[in-house]
Amino acid sequence: MISIEPLSSHLGASVRGVDVSKPLDAATFGLVLKAIGDYGLLRFPGQTITPAQQRDFAAHFGHTQAIRGRLAIFTAPGVPEINILSNIKENGQPIGATDAGVIWHTDMVHNETPGFANVLYALKVPRRDGRVLGGTEFYNLQAAYEDLPDDIKARLTDAYGVYTGENYTSIERTPFPEYGTNSHKAHKKEPVRHRIIATHPISGRKTLYCDPGHVDYIEGLPPGERDEMLQYLLKHIMQPKFHFVYDWCEGDVMMWDNLRTVHHAVLDFGPEEHRLIWRCQVEGDKVFDAAFVRQALSQARAAA
Ligand code: SIN
Repeated sequence: MISIEPLSSHLGASVRGVDVSKPLDAATFGLVLKAIGDYGLLRFPGQTITPAQQRDFAAHFGHTQAIRGRLAIFTAPGVPEINILSNIKENGQPIGATDAGVIWHTDMVHNETPGFANVLYALKVPRRDGRVLGGTEFYNLQAAYEDLPDDIKARLTDAYGVYTGENYTSIERTPFPEYGTNSHKAHKKEPVRHRIIATHPISGRKTLYCDPGHVDYIEGLPPGERDEMLQYLLKHIMQPKFHFVYDWCEGDVMMWDNLRTVHHAVLDFGPEEHRLIWRCQVEGDKVFDAAFVRQALSQARAAA
């Protein structure tokens, strides 16, 4: 029996009754896909999985992306789709990436089809004086869209965010001290453009798809309005009412939707306060296939 309980007023739900280590049957898959469309983030507590099982669970939702670039050295043996995020050192050498996801961003925005989800598994969670550290923070892009004034929504109807990877640090972000600093420079990528007002492929609801960490500029507005609009949108997204912090517990599998959230990892723990998380990234190929989503949602309706 699957139960789904909200984690906050606007984002996240806890899902019980799903064993992530096993293949999902069609009804369970449909219910989980509908839930991620409804809640944007799902927590599956109390799981024990291997890297291959994590990848196979994630692969229900889309192609799992093998880790490339500077983080490729930190992958699970034989499972290049599982990225190890950790501050642990063994024999003086880091076993994982220490600074992945420190800036506010959403993942796989440089893909031609925007990336769909991340599936993470927590093995070690830092704590101090009983307080959980090393959370992952989010802003809810669906709630941010719904809260936009009507005139801004209208002006953004044909606007696109352009992502080149060239000017990773080009936008003046000092008005956002909470934004964080990035410790590396991204490489130039094939430029892609994504609608700023996007329709979510599962829920059909609109989201404000604008990645503060990577967007270079807005296309589809008069040149004099672009920069001002971008600053306005980034500030609009980063409001407390759209904020949610996820406190990890060992054994959590947590899946978030990159199409309706931006996130960052909170580095509030020291070198001896160990954090170990495995991460798998899921591309948008399946969820942007309308027939695939229709079929899964009809399974969810039949199972409900
Ligand atoms: C990420 O940005 O994918 C990593 C988030 C985290 O480690 O909390």
